[in-house]
Amino acid sequence: MAEMRVLMAHMDDPDQCLIGTYEKNGGYQAIKKAIPHIPPDTLIDMVKQSWLRGRGGAGFSTGMKWSFVPKGKGLDKYVVCNCDESEPGTFKDRLLIEKDPHQLIEGVILASYAIDARRAFIYCRGEFYEGIRKLKKAVEEARNSGYLGNHIFGTDFSLEIVVHPGAGAYIAGEETALLNSLEGYRATPRLKPPFPASSGLYSKPTVVNNVETLCNVVHIVNRGVEWYTSIGKPKNTGTKIFQISGQIKNPGCYEFPIGIPLREVIDAAGGMLPGRSFKACYPGGSSCALLNAKDLDIAMDFDTLTHRDSALGTASIIVMDDTADMVQVALRLMEFYQNESCGKCTPCREGTRWVVQMLSRIVAGQGTFGDLDVITQVCKSMTETSFCPLAPGAALPIESAIAEFRDEFEAYIRRNPHASEKPKMKMAYPYMKAYAFD
Ligand SMILES: Cc1cc2nc3c(=O)[nH]c(=O)nc-3n(C[C@H](O)[C@H](O)[C@H](O)COP(=O)(O)O)c2cc1C
Ligand code: SF4
Repeated sequence: MAEMRVLMAHMDDPDQCLIGTYEKNGGYQAIKKAIPHIPPDTLIDMVKQSWLRGRGGAGFSTGMKWSFVPKGKGLDKYVVCNCDESEPGTFKDRLLIEKDPHQLIEGVILASYAIDARRAFIYCRGEFYEGIRKLKKAVEEARNSGYLGNHIFGTDFSLEIVVHPGAGAYIAGEETALLNSLEGYRATPRLKPPFPASSGLYSKPTVVNNVETLCNVVHIVNRGVEWYTSIGKPKNTGTKIFQISGQIKNPGCYEFPIGIPLREVIDAAGGMLPGRSFKACYPGGSSCALLNAKDLDIAMDFDTLTHRDSALGTASIIVMDDTADMVQVALRLMEFYQNESCGKCTPCREGTRWVVQMLSRIVAGQGTFGDLDVITQVCKSMTETSFCPLAPGAALPIESAIAEFRDEFEAYIRRNPHASEKPKMKMAYPYMKAYAFD
């Protein structure tokens, strides 16, 4: 299947980041169409009917999220665009803000109009110097053209957008940690509920959406709900920017209708390196379960991948070929999560560290067979008892690597002359009783 470029339609135009070129290519037509001609509630309904699902990882209905925001004029409400983008393998938001920043600004204006927010924030990963510079310039241009500021198009809708550099942590992308960071606090997650839609930034109703999600809204307004739902699959509509990286010929961003088979994304990226074969991939960033060679024809959509116990996530496909060492992959990933755990809750703070220690021992040829069971049990406890989704996201890739490629882990363990089928150590914690070997 050929690429279907909607969000990336003008990515190759070097001047697309300038307002004149954006307008020449059809930009800012969606806000002209919507403000004030489409009432905010109708706009929310349109987004609901479009079946647009969040592109930041969870795939939650965007229209539904907007509809949870309390109605009423005079209430302080905020739109926050999540451009933290620190999930391993994910690099689509950076492309969108560097190449087409006005598309995002138009999406932010539409979301703010829909929920009647007067101030919006774009929380942008701090290392995206170029993206932040381009966004700030684009905000200025949009304000000078009357698309931002007071009384947009002569209506009583006014909006300012603030571009805010992020705090340099993976957890700052989790929406409530992001809100803490935006308020000037350390980026640690908040308890949910309340959800941001009712109590978010400064405890006011807040919509948090990903960059790609908001860019989609522009095209739903421009081309209609029927057009949008004709792309992709039922309940998995529109296009998706697939980012493919790892052991692949042409890593990069490729836009396709949601639901395209994995094999076709790999083909679009030029296929595997010469002489190599596909072994496995993480399909949605690293915080999900592995797919293996039997999954090459799987449909890359939210529901199919959930059904396969993995996730579409950010659609960031990290490819590994037959030369990949899955034990090293598991260790490297868990080191990342250990580093990025915010430390607020014990199962994640200690669990990630324990798993790194056990995997390091295995790689050093000092592991035991019991280590694999203990790692699995620690991962289970991280999934079930941690405070936020970082820990389950850290556990899944490791659990699935052990489940799919156990023989590779065992091969490392056999290098230990003292490895026995039974570990000598008794587990100290009662919940690990099942793994206490007498
Ligand atoms: C550890 C962690 C990191 C996250 N990082 C990001 C991120 O960088 N960008 C993003 O859009 N969402 C990220 N999310 C998801 C957000 O919490 C939130 O669901 C998303 O911004 C909502 O936007 P959407 O509905 O448009 O997808 C992260 C979640 C977790 C648990
Ligand atoms: S699960 Fe990890 S990242 Fe989330 S609150 Fe607990 S320690 Fe912090």
